[in-house]
Amino acid sequence: MANVLITLHEDRPATTANHFAVIYSVDENDCFEMAQGMSQLGHDVFFVNWADFDGQEFTRMFNYNRRGFVRPLELADFALAFVYKMEGFLFDLPRFFGMVRRIEQQCYCVLNRPATIAHNADKRYMWELEREGVRIIPTYPLDSRAEGMIADGQPLVLKPIFGERGYGAVLARTPEDISGIKGKPSEYIAQKYMSEIRAGERSLMFVGPEFHHAVIKKPAPSNPDEFRCNMSLGGTVEVYSPTREELTFAENVLQAYTRLGYEAHFSRIDVIATDEGPTLMEAELLNPSMYANYSQVGPQFGMAVARYFDSVLAGGQRSPDSVAGFTPPARIFSLR
Ligand SMILES: Nc1ncnc2c1ncn2[C@@H]1O[C@H](COP(=O)(O)OP(=O)(O)O)[C@@H](O)[C@H]1O
Ligand SMILES: [Mg+2]
Repeated sequence: MANVLITLHEDRPATTANHFAVIYSVDENDCFEMAQGMSQLGHDVFFVNWADFDGQEFTRMFNYNRRGFVRPLELADFALAFVYKMEGFLFDLPRFFGMVRRIEQQCYCVLNRPATIAHNADKRYMWELEREGVRIIPTYPLDSRAEGMIADGQPLVLKPIFGERGYGAVLARTPEDISGIKGKPSEYIAQKYMSEIRAGERSLMFVGPEFHHAVIKKPAPSNPDEFRCNMSLGGTVEVYSPTREELTFAENVLQAYTRLGYEAHFSRIDVIATDEGPTLMEAELLNPSMYANYSQVGPQFGMAVARYFDSVLAGGQRSPDSVAGFTPPARIFSLR
């Protein structure tokens, strides 16, 4: 029996003495199924809100097994820490990575691996995957060449290098649109605008290397100008069966990550269908929404995650990698 820590995006006002409430119930309710699975395997599961991290330890802790708040354990008491959801971590990346580093030093095993988390937080990983043979949406630095492409009539999506849930993403159709970004151009990547997005972004969920389930997300149907599929922006989600080609493609993305030295233990691979075949939109290895309960596979998914994490733990290998070499930017411009 081991102590397991899960960071969650708490809905603090809705939390009660015997219920730890989460914000995005559509996907975060999955945490209860994962906790249930781990407790069935004999583990003691604790939920924390990263706002309660004081630089060293967590000052509040909810024990899932006993369904109540308990006197917080020390991080060194945890065999496994699952860095899952954190409210607004992008506002304060130095604090976030400080927490990850501390967890890494104290806990036996961290999933996803801290080095993977650091690598995935920076969207320039797309170029590294491309070098590993993954077909990605054509992606460029936001520089004079990209500006020239826009001036020549090629619309580009400008995305913060550190961003999530579509925040800060801008569709630039004219050079003037570039002024719509909130930070410096060097803090953005530019991508070819893919009109195929209206036919949906396929999200394939993986537990370790194994595919589990999938959904298809589409931009708000009522707003033809909206290209972002994120549910927080009115996007829709449906259960989806990926094609064999999409499945193989997503598996290859994970294998490319492994070759780069960033094995994914919990991931969502987002692809769009183009004339060339499946094409990578993003690989979400940090903070992924998994839509398991939404897809009516919550309990199975929870158990699959629990068994897999248990096997990683039983493998007995302390995480070899670290965030030590990663310097997060001090200021995140994209969200407000
Ligand atoms: N190149 C693109 N072409 C068309 N739509 C895009 C493009 N890039 C992003 N989008 C839309 O914006 C959304 C958010 O972009 P994404 O790369 O997933 O970043 P994040 O979710 O981390 O903010 C996507 O789900 C998709 O709907
Ligand atoms: Mg996304």
